[in-house]
Amino acid sequence: MATSVLACALIALSPPRTQTIGVDDRVHQDDGQQPARVARERVSRDMLELAGTRAGDIVYDLGSLDSVPILAARNFGARAYGVGLEAAQAEAARRSARERGVAQQVTFIEGNLLTASYSEATVVTLDLSPGLNLILEPVLHRELRPGTRIVSRRFGIGAWRADRTVQASDGTTLYLWTVQRPPAREPDIFFVPTEQAIVEQMLELAGVKSDDVVYDLGSGDGRMVIIAAQKYGARGVGVELDPALVRTSNDVAAAAQVGDRVRFIEGDLFDVDLSDATVVTLFLSQSVNRRLEAKLKRELRTGARVVSHQFDMGDWPPERTVRAGDGTSLFLWTIRKP
Ligand SMILES: C[S@@+](CC[C@H](N)C(=O)[O-])C[C@H]1O[C@@H](n2cnc3c(N)ncnc32)[C@H](O)[C@@H]1O
Repeated sequence: MATSVLACALIALSPPRTQTIGVDDRVHQDDGQQPARVARERVSRDMLELAGTRAGDIVYDLGSLDSVPILAARNFGARAYGVGLEAAQAEAARRSARERGVAQQVTFIEGNLLTASYSEATVVTLDLSPGLNLILEPVLHRELRPGTRIVSRRFGIGAWRADRTVQASDGTTLYLWTVQRPPAREPDIFFVPTEQAIVEQMLELAGVKSDDVVYDLGSGDGRMVIIAAQKYGARGVGVELDPALVRTSNDVAAAAQVGDRVRFIEGDLFDVDLSDATVVTLFLSQSVNRRLEAKLKRELRTGARVVSHQFDMGDWPPERTVRAGDGTSLFLWTIRKP
């Protein structure tokens, strides 16, 4: 049981599998272009299709050649920009746009793709290198509005988890991200997942059973409550400020087939009513735990258990402390009321 549950959770938490997207071989075969160019245009079209490009979109192709912007305008009705060309490339790309009848809808911008402004983009395409994608990541997070789609050919963007990966017509991998709303406020502590073996240790320490309701405060990618539901049959509630992590949690819960036993609240853990929790799990910090102490004592029922990974509760002594597999401590408290 333990092995299959863990394997299932691992599968659910891993990136989505690569699919192959359809190729329409009719595109541009009749206009006498060279094979390399035809192949490049097919991949460009795959990228724009994956982004769901449509009329009204504003496409920025970073580190551009001419094919993505020209196709975006010609085949998808978008307004398009190619950014980061050298002067001679930009001139050739403009000539090509004129020849293809889309000079009005396409702009080629010479210069540094790291310092250009992309804030009006609704679609961004990248065919760069792992290093450049990594340098671009904070720029993209800062510049792009929620709902903007990013497609990268061949490479991911640092540790940013792609929503989808597909195989392009030339066999290369295409990655898709949709920019999420930022958290309503700065989280008290940033996302670092608890290792799955330690998640299980925490749930064991709390003695989780099928009639428990497990709340994970600051639930990250949802693993704590998903494993509580999968392995122990418990119900679970995750509370998380970051909408992107809430979305991941819902995706993982659905893939792990526990969507009916867990739910994720996008919100501040200090604002959520804990009165139906029988177990609360924490991986926050000592200062956040201390700020939580009064709320836990006030809202939790007698017999509810609180387990914290790594951080104790200051003046509230734990009833048990055990060593976790990663060398940190796990702390257990049980709520007792007079
Ligand atoms: C260290 S991670 C732990 C994630 C998860 N509980 C685990 O053990 O894998 C802390 C999480 O708390 C979230 N967080 C921080 N402050 C929060 C707050 N006030 N309300 C809700 N979530 C918060 C962060 O976004 C982050 O995902």
